[in-house]
Amino acid sequence: MEALALERKAEQNKELRERLMKLKKERNAIILAHYYQRDEVQEVADFRGDSFLLAQKAAQTDAEVIVFCGVHFMGESAKILAPNKTVLIPDERAGCPMADMVNVDGLRKLKAQHPNAKVVTYINSSAEIKAETDICCTSANAVRVIQSVDSDEIIWVPDKNLGHYVQQHTDKKLIIWEGYCNTHDMLTVKDVYEMKAKYPDAPFVVHPECRPEVVELGDFVGSTTAILEYCKKSDVKQFIVGTEDGTGYQLRKDSPDKTFHFATKFLVCPNMKVNNLKKLVKCLETMKPQIYVPPAIADKARISLERMLQVQ
Ligand code: 13P
Ligand code: SF4
Repeated sequence: MEALALERKAEQNKELRERLMKLKKERNAIILAHYYQRDEVQEVADFRGDSFLLAQKAAQTDAEVIVFCGVHFMGESAKILAPNKTVLIPDERAGCPMADMVNVDGLRKLKAQHPNAKVVTYINSSAEIKAETDICCTSANAVRVIQSVDSDEIIWVPDKNLGHYVQQHTDKKLIIWEGYCNTHDMLTVKDVYEMKAKYPDAPFVVHPECRPEVVELGDFVGSTTAILEYCKKSDVKQFIVGTEDGTGYQLRKDSPDKTFHFATKFLVCPNMKVNNLKKLVKCLETMKPQIYVPPAIADKARISLERMLQVQ
C-alpha cells in the first residue's frame, strides 16, 4: 500500500477502535477473537485464544453480549454454552468447510453400524452434529478426551488428519470420518522440505490438522496454543510454522526477537479472514448478525460441550 493509503487506513482504524470502545461499554460486551483472525481484530479483542480457551471464556463471562470473532461453529458453541447471552459474529458467512463435511444422516448411519461406539466430535462441527455426540474435543485436549471416554471403540468426526494423530496416542479403536481442514491440508511434505533446506536451524512446529506425512516431519506437534507456548519458551530464534498465518500476531507479540517463517503462503483460512474491524464495529452497532441455535438442539449439544470442559 502507498504511504498515503496506509496513513488513511491507520486513521480509519483509529476512529473504528474509538467507536468500538464506546459501544462495548454501552452494550456490556466482551470481544473474543480466535488466533486466526486478522491482526486488526486480534488487537482489539478482550481475549484471544484457540477454540478451547474461547469456549471456556464464553461459558464463564459475565458480559451480556459476546462478540465472537471466529467462524460460525465457534459462535454456536458460545451460544450453546451461554444460552442467555446475545452472541454476535461480525460476518455470518464465516463458515468452516471442515464442519460442513459431516452431516447428521451420515453420522446416524455410522452410529447404527457401531452401536457400542461412543461419538467424539471435534468442536469444528455444527450444533446438530454436537447434538448427536457423546463428548466434544478440540485439538488442545483430543487425546485426553479420548482417554476419558468409557468405551474402546470411538466414532471420530470430522477431521481425519487429527483423527490419525490421536490414533497414534491411544490404544482405542477410532472409526474416522473423512473430513479435513482445507487450509492445513494444503501443506505438503515438499513445502516443508524446501523450508527446512532454507532454514536448517529452525524447528518445524505443526498443527495436527495437517496431513499425517507432514505432521510426521514436525519437531513439535500441537494445537495452536501449544505451538504458541512452545515457541515462547524456546531459546531458539527462528521457527518454521505449520499452522494458520493469523497465529503470527501472537507469536510476534510473545517473542519480538524471534522470526517465524510460515511453511507456505497458502496457510491462510479465508473464512477466518471474512471478519474485519469495520464489520466488528457494525455488528455491535446494529446488534446483528446474532447466532441462533434452536433450543432443542442446543440442550443436547450442551451436554457434549460441558463434558469436554470437565475433562482435566
Ligand atoms: P484450535 O483453535 O483448536 O487450534 O483449532 C484450529 C482451527 O482450525 C480452528 O478453526
Ligand atoms: Fe475450518 Fe480450517 Fe478454517 Fe479452522 S482453519 S476454520 S478448521 S477451514
